[in-house]
Amino acid sequence: MTVHFNYTVDITHYPLNRQMLLQRSERLLQLLHLEAAEVSIVLMGDAEMTGYNELYRKKKGPTNVLSFPARQTDDGFVIPEAELGDVLISVDTAKREAVEQGHTLHRRLLELIIHGLLHLTGYDHERSEEEALRMWDFEKELFQHLQTSRSANMPYLAINVDHVATIRQARGGVEPDPVFAASLCELAGADGIVVHLREDRRHIQDRDVRILRQTIKTKLNLEMAVCPEIIDIALEIVPDMVTLVPEKRKELTTEGGLDILGNDKKVRKAIEKMAKAGIPVSIFIDPDASQIQAALDAGATFVELHTGRYCDARTIAEQEQEFHLIEQSAELAYESGLRVNAGHGLDYRNAGPIADLAFIEELSIGHAVISRAVLVGLDQAVREMLAIVRPA
Ligand code: PXP
Repeated sequence: MTVHFNYTVDITHYPLNRQMLLQRSERLLQLLHLEAAEVSIVLMGDAEMTGYNELYRKKKGPTNVLSFPARQTDDGFVIPEAELGDVLISVDTAKREAVEQGHTLHRRLLELIIHGLLHLTGYDHERSEEEALRMWDFEKELFQHLQTSRSANMPYLAINVDHVATIRQARGGVEPDPVFAASLCELAGADGIVVHLREDRRHIQDRDVRILRQTIKTKLNLEMAVCPEIIDIALEIVPDMVTLVPEKRKELTTEGGLDILGNDKKVRKAIEKMAKAGIPVSIFIDPDASQIQAALDAGATFVELHTGRYCDARTIAEQEQEFHLIEQSAELAYESGLRVNAGHGLDYRNAGPIADLAFIEELSIGHAVISRAVLVGLDQAVREMLAIVRPA
């Protein structure tokens, strides 16, 4: 089963996860029981599509999709049986249609790929109404299958050690040291360490971040507000990534996602600076389509979806609603080409369902693990959380 994707236009600026589109196209061939088949899918612009539409259909202007079954050869050329043919798609038209329908480009392209592939296998919607209905029903069924057939997910676990520093700062001394804590987390199997260097330095100190940069063997994710002083420190230390968060002096912990729309210029500028230093940027956002779009527009590599409302839900119905929002947002962000992390408020009871969600790459967990560590030790607390996030 081979799907050849070709691009005759530069689609790097479209919000699209090409890998995911390829995976879903291959899954489509499986669903059609065409495991041995080969198909070529060409994504092009309107100008090129207009040429093909006029040449082969005698119609003016571009169209969204054209299919050319491989069997239709008129020069005696013998085509291997496995070759299904070509599906040509205009990304420009697909983009316009996606906007009109209020859907993502990924979703529209997937619909057009399904439509084109069904034509290659003999389905038709012009010969009779009955055949058209059969084709449209099957298209809907295939689309739904693709939405629900997801591969098992195994997210990474990053431990936030801020609260080790909180205990240290309670006495203004040197114990316990978040640097030692970070090493213990790594020894227990954590995939990364997160620290939030706040403007008020209430827990993590500059010295912690500097030493962690040298001692961490996995990945250092520096959480920070979009503020010039901390941006300069990040540029000097060069963590493996930064996560932009909102920060209020009076809050006990980060209270909600960053409103990118309301901080657009500042966020863009910060991301540009980080990009020059080779530091990927994640933005901590509420699970919301407009914030995902804003993160894309601002040039973020990741979003971290705020799980706080899901964790704080007081009823099962409320929790299900919040869970559903996170699930939908993770998919939307991922298919738009963003990498997706999640965190805040996750504990030993509520982290499992979030870890099971497709498209989430990493969970960032702090308070629950450090709290448990006080009673059972840090090594055990990390291992217990790992067993939930990545069950053996
Ligand atoms: N992600 C972000 C962006 C945060 O600000 C925090 C809290 O520092 C966390 C994750 C971890 O949250 P918790 O300590 O509730 O696990």
